[in-house]
Amino acid sequence: MTKAIILSGGYGTRLRPLSCNVPKSLMPIVNKPVMERQILLLKSAGVKEIVLAVSVMGDIVKNYFKDGSHLGVRIHYTEEKHPLGTAGAIKIAEPYLRDENFFMLNGDVIFNCDLNKMLQFHTTKKGIGTIAGKVVDDPSRYGVLIENEDTHQLLEFLEKDEYFPSNGKIVPMPINAGVYLLEPEIFTYIEPHKKVSIEKQVFPIAVKKEQLYHYQISGVWKDIGKPYDLLEGNIILMVDIMKNLKGDVKNLIDHSADIHPSSKIYSPCTIGENVVIRGNSTIGPNVIIGDNVFIDNNVELRECVIYNESYISSNVKIEKAIIADNCHIQENVTLKGNNENLVILASYVEVLKNLEILAPKTISLTVCHHEVLKENMK
Ligand code: GDD
Ligand code: MG
Repeated sequence: MTKAIILSGGYGTRLRPLSCNVPKSLMPIVNKPVMERQILLLKSAGVKEIVLAVSVMGDIVKNYFKDGSHLGVRIHYTEEKHPLGTAGAIKIAEPYLRDENFFMLNGDVIFNCDLNKMLQFHTTKKGIGTIAGKVVDDPSRYGVLIENEDTHQLLEFLEKDEYFPSNGKIVPMPINAGVYLLEPEIFTYIEPHKKVSIEKQVFPIAVKKEQLYHYQISGVWKDIGKPYDLLEGNIILMVDIMKNLKGDVKNLIDHSADIHPSSKIYSPCTIGENVVIRGNSTIGPNVIIGDNVFIDNNVELRECVIYNESYISSNVKIEKAIIADNCHIQENVTLKGNNENLVILASYVEVLKNLEILAPKTISLTVCHHEVLKENMK
């Protein structure tokens, strides 16, 4: 039975301040941590044993997933005191993975493909690794895959700062989706006790030895590296979940939600457990609300994610924003982003009444946990 390893040890710098007290792999995607979604997908493909390679905030990950029995899988942990890089991290998991091929996942990607098809592809190609690829419009933020189109053998693997598009023109290309199927032989490419990057120091060598293949995955895919990706990833997966349910499902609303009949829900929206929405509020489209959130009268929410336990008072408007858990927004507040720039509140932020908090034109507006906003920000 194929096993798996998921990496959850980066600093998540680009997701700060959301990632200051929560590792990236636990960021909620439609109200479940991204890595939990990956574990469930692996389980649906028959994977029962999974190593989580943790480092930064590893204890939070361990406390959340424990031994995995509540998810129906067996979870082991490897722990790096200081991050050992994407290859160094799997090298220390070699004792768990040395017997047969295994999936390796970056713990910060949303995807929903049939992993057994990838396994079949890998078995027929007989390389030491298969890299899942996805065509994206702007490949420059990712590792770029250049293949022999007939055999799908990789001719080049170019990590982000090594890829320069010809004549500087960005065109859609297949990129490294951060999902691999590897043979244990890969461990012979990684020097022990060193910081090693699989993308920069292992894959380019395996490509030269003609040992890597590209498998194009179907379905949704998103790396949640930056705040806007996190918002977009939530929306993309929400729509995908609905598409895969029976019938014409327009919203994902938990049966415990208490929504006043005068409030309107514009699909697609997700509403978690024990949410209260009082009267004359307008929710959606593209809104994801966690559990135990209270939303008072005359609230307008559009294109935003609200984590668990937040309190939104009356006459509040929120658009293009991520509101982490336990925030308190007082009356008559507007929180608004623009284009790809969001308003981001980390946990336990309080926004005092009558304020306007608007993201500037070029960057997201971020507020660290436990801060109290007392003045307008524009
Ligand atoms: N255990 C451990 N130790 N995990 C690590 C370490 C480490 O030293 N460094 C990074 N990780 C984990 C991160 O937590 C994340 O889950 C994953 O490895 C990838 O790291 P990112 O920092 O998110 O990399 P990226 O998104 O810039 O680029 C990578 O992913 C892209 C696809 O999402 C590369 O693999 C690209 O080639 C790829 O296109
Ligand atoms: Mg990433």
